[in-house]
Amino acid sequence: MSGNRTFSMIKPDAVKDGHNGAILKIIEDAGFRIVAIKKTLLTPELAGQFYAVHAERPFYQTLKDVMSAGPIVAMILEKDNAIADFRELIGATNPANANEGTIRKLFAKSLESNAIHGSDSDENALIEGNFFFSSFEKF
Ligand code: CMP
Repeated sequence: MSGNRTFSMIKPDAVKDGHNGAILKIIEDAGFRIVAIKKTLLTPELAGQFYAVHAERPFYQTLKDVMSAGPIVAMILEKDNAIADFRELIGATNPANANEGTIRKLFAKSLESNAIHGSDSDENALIEGNFFFSSFEKF
C-alpha cells in the first residue's frame, strides 16, 4: 500500500444509535472512496486481537467490552494522504478535545465510546484491513 488507503471502523455505540448513514456521508463528502465495507460483530476475543497493541494498558478490558457490545461497520477507504486526512476528519481520540465538525465531536459519547476508529499508520492500516478483509491491497 502506498499511503492512499486507511482502515476505519464505526464503533458499536454509533452503530446502535443509527449514525452509520450520517457518518458514511461525511466520509464520502470528504472525498474518500469506500473500497470495501462490512457490518459484523466482534467477540471479546476478536476485539482483544484487533487491539492487541493495547494489551498492557489499563483500559484494555473496557476496550474489549465496548468493542464487542454490538455490531461494528468495518471499511477500507481510499484517498490521497488517507491516513492523515482521515484522522483529521474523525478528530481527537478523546471527543472532549475533538475539533468542531469532526465525526467524534458530532457522534462520540466518551473516550471509550468514541464513535469511530482510524488507522494511525500505513503499516497498521494494512494489518487492520487484513483483519477484516481478505487481500486488502487487491480490492
Ligand atoms: P481508537 O482510535 O479506536 O484506538 C484505541 C481506543 O482505545 C481509542 O480509540 C479509545 O476509544 C480507547 N482509549 C484510548 N486511550 C484510552 C484511555 N486512556 N482510557 C480509555 N480508553 C482509551
